[in-house]
Amino acid sequence: MNDSNLIITNVKELVGILPTNKLVLKGKEMNELSIIKDAFIEIQDEKILSFGLMKDLKLKDTQKVYDAKGGTILPSWNDSHTHLVFARSREKEFIDKINGLSYEEIAKKGGGILNSALHLEEISEITLFENSKRRLENIIKLGTGAIEIKSGYGLSLEGEFKILRTIRKLKETFDIEIKSTFLGAHALPKKYQKNREKFLDLIINEMLPNIHKEGLADYIDVFCETNYFNVNELDRVLEAGAKYNLKPKVHVNQFTSIGGIQKAIEHNAISVDHLEIMKENDFNSLSNSSTIATLLPSCSFFIDIPYAPAKALIEKNIPFALASDLNPGSSPNGNMNLVNSLACIKMKILPEAVINASTINGAYAMEISHLTGSITKGKQANLIITKPIESYPYLFYSFGENCIERTMVKGKWNK
Ligand code: NIG
Ligand code: FE
Repeated sequence: MNDSNLIITNVKELVGILPTNKLVLKGKEMNELSIIKDAFIEIQDEKILSFGLMKDLKLKDTQKVYDAKGGTILPSWNDSHTHLVFARSREKEFIDKINGLSYEEIAKKGGGILNSALHLEEISEITLFENSKRRLENIIKLGTGAIEIKSGYGLSLEGEFKILRTIRKLKETFDIEIKSTFLGAHALPKKYQKNREKFLDLIINEMLPNIHKEGLADYIDVFCETNYFNVNELDRVLEAGAKYNLKPKVHVNQFTSIGGIQKAIEHNAISVDHLEIMKENDFNSLSNSSTIATLLPSCSFFIDIPYAPAKALIEKNIPFALASDLNPGSSPNGNMNLVNSLACIKMKILPEAVINASTINGAYAMEISHLTGSITKGKQANLIITKPIESYPYLFYSFGENCIERTMVKGKWNK
């Protein structure tokens, strides 16, 4: 028996097959999905070796078989925007929200990111890691096979290091691809309220070089938004990041459209994320760039703000990924199945577009779509096997139901 070889049989629908050279999808392609019905898929070591119709399968006695029993197989979700490493939940603010306060009002009265920064100061690095590890384990069971994680609740050299070291430990502990992003400019700490310059200096001249020295970040992020960091500050932080080869993945256009998209594109951003508020020129800039948009519907749902214009992006041939934005303030949800349902229901995009956005395009937004994000020979065997379902749109239609039977990352079962 060859232990590193496995054949999964009786797959009702094998979904998301792409050729090797398709690394990102946009426009009409978003609504297309290649499928084989009544299929098998063969895994060798960590990778997809072959797949095809059950009727063409010639099994050897020596091969290990797993019977999917009519379940459907999709590529794992690739969650390209999260703040998974945080100290504590913020359900007190949830009550404020129920009582009618907005995200901005909660932040003004001492809640928000600054509150999470206080929690981070209090927690030990060991507990921070344990909490984050548990969170990631749960998410992997829900079908996530690669993830980006940001810092940003430190707001000091020690605090940011605490988060980034925790992300590094997660990278060492888990098999899944993890990308880490330095988000030093997430909010202005109280003690710098009268001296923003000093905080920017700290980010540019202290945090960045030290983070670089330790190789702790893959990308750089800024929360470019009214009352947070302006376009000029975005420019300065991204320019400083570029000196250390950190490509941008940035928060822009969550509440206001102030030119962050244009500046991020100038800096060759990999992705511009949020985009709940878009002006005509924002679409035009994206159309003429190679930057991918990243949309976060569970953030819109939770803090009750507009949904990003996914349909318009498809019409305008602009590629986008879907991600969870998992964080304690605006999206305490890391379940990509719920994100996908919300995208169908609230953004009114088809299940095909949702699957493409959460698999191949999510991988593209982390620069790993040559490794994962589709059913393609030679790619990592990162798979979701569902319970028997009528057809794949059921996954999103039946929002709130867990349809996942098992998940696999790099050829290894997770549950
Ligand atoms: O992506 N917008 C900025 N950052 C997070 C929220 C952070 C928080 O409230 O803790 C977001 O929505
Ligand atoms: Fe975010």
